[in-house]
Amino acid sequence: MSRKLTIRAFKYNPLNKISKPHFVTYELEETSFMTIFVCLTQIREKMDADLSFDFVCRAGICGSCAMMINGKPKLACKTLTKDYPEGIIELMPLPAFRHIKDLSVNTGEWFEGMCKRVESWVHNEKDTDISKLEERIEPEVADETFELDRCIECGICVASCATKLMRPNFIAATGLLRTARYLQDPHDHRTIEDYYELIGDDDGVFGCMSLLACEDSCPKELPLQSKIAYMRRQLVAQRNK
Ligand code: SF4
Ligand code: FES
Repeated sequence: MSRKLTIRAFKYNPLNKISKPHFVTYELEETSFMTIFVCLTQIREKMDADLSFDFVCRAGICGSCAMMINGKPKLACKTLTKDYPEGIIELMPLPAFRHIKDLSVNTGEWFEGMCKRVESWVHNEKDTDISKLEERIEPEVADETFELDRCIECGICVASCATKLMRPNFIAATGLLRTARYLQDPHDHRTIEDYYELIGDDDGVFGCMSLLACEDSCPKELPLQSKIAYMRRQLVAQRNK
């Protein structure tokens, strides 16, 4: 039997001088396997065309639809309403990112800054010849390296990180994962000293307090804590030389 759902969505437009932060409550009929994304689409189509939220893929791939769902950062398109037995669901925008409107935040500018900061590209002195095949690496090394490319840049690990909320310049789990990805990749010729320059401080790998929320919340189940520990071990060994 279907039930009524109560959705309380945060609404605020920082660019509108008369807009004030507030919640709006919507009631809708639950359908089987309904996701929060489906609720939001119904609300926008039938009740409130002004409600802003982000999505692209609707399949847990693009990372656009992350938001706070009853206080926890999650992907709206992968979160089922049946997992909320009380039927009351409160939606807020992710913290730690620039708020655009209602449930929409700008994760793109943060990720662009993070990629530049950790120099998220292969560093190699050789000139690239795109007519040639890429240099071969061992399959298990390739697997381990490309596994870390599964990050969808949803921002959930950033929003769930207490260190990041206290220290705005903290590079967060996804940034540290990115450095581990390139350190593992034999195509990248950077040394540990180079990584020390990028993340060897409290805004980098030494700032993480191992609170574990990043790994608990990551929708792609990436090994965030083990890769942070790996980077920390590498950098500590370098410092103690
Ligand atoms: S590491 Fe996981 S939680 Fe963090 S941005 Fe990537 S996919 Fe999202
Ligand atoms: S819409 Fe792409 S991850 Fe949810």
